[in-house]
Amino acid sequence: MIKIIKQFLTKDEINILNNWTLANYKNEFFRDPRMDKKYKKTRLTTRGKHLLPDNVDYPKEAYLIQEKIQNLLGIKSPLYPHFHKKGIVTGIGFENGSIYSHKDPTYYPETITIHCNFITQKPIGGGITIIEGVSYDIEECDMLMYAVNKLEHEVTPNIGAKERILWCFGFCIPDSQAYEIFK
Ligand SMILES: [Fe+2]
Repeated sequence: MIKIIKQFLTKDEINILNNWTLANYKNEFFRDPRMDKKYKKTRLTTRGKHLLPDNVDYPKEAYLIQEKIQNLLGIKSPLYPHFHKKGIVTGIGFENGSIYSHKDPTYYPETITIHCNFITQKPIGGGITIIEGVSYDIEECDMLMYAVNKLEHEVTPNIGAKERILWCFGFCIPDSQAYEIFK
């Protein structure tokens, strides 16, 4: 249950998303998700278990992109993963940061948790998503969507000073609809 949609974002959208993350990551609503086995604070995200970041307001383009994804996938009344502010998370990964291998939760019974991910800023090296042992080195405009509660995934260490910026649009989709999407 993996799909890549090439050239989903425009250069302008990429710039807006990156600028927002770069301008905001020092705010307290960005937290260390502690998914790096070796180091602390090598990544910060707007995903919050303890604090729902009600003060976060993403750029309007983020919601337009979300709508575009919902239209593409035929999602009429979206259910979002917990701790995603309106279904959206952005994260920034720094030099040497990595994400250990894991699966994400199933938030509602008989649904599949799908993340539609964009690496809107690629680091100089590394920062590659590995899903079930296979590397997916996508371009900044491409969308990588997959069933994060079904497939083991991790991210290799960032090489170099350029940050890795992620925008994640999450959905909890009824099993049968999810199988349709990925068939
Ligand atoms: Fe994950």
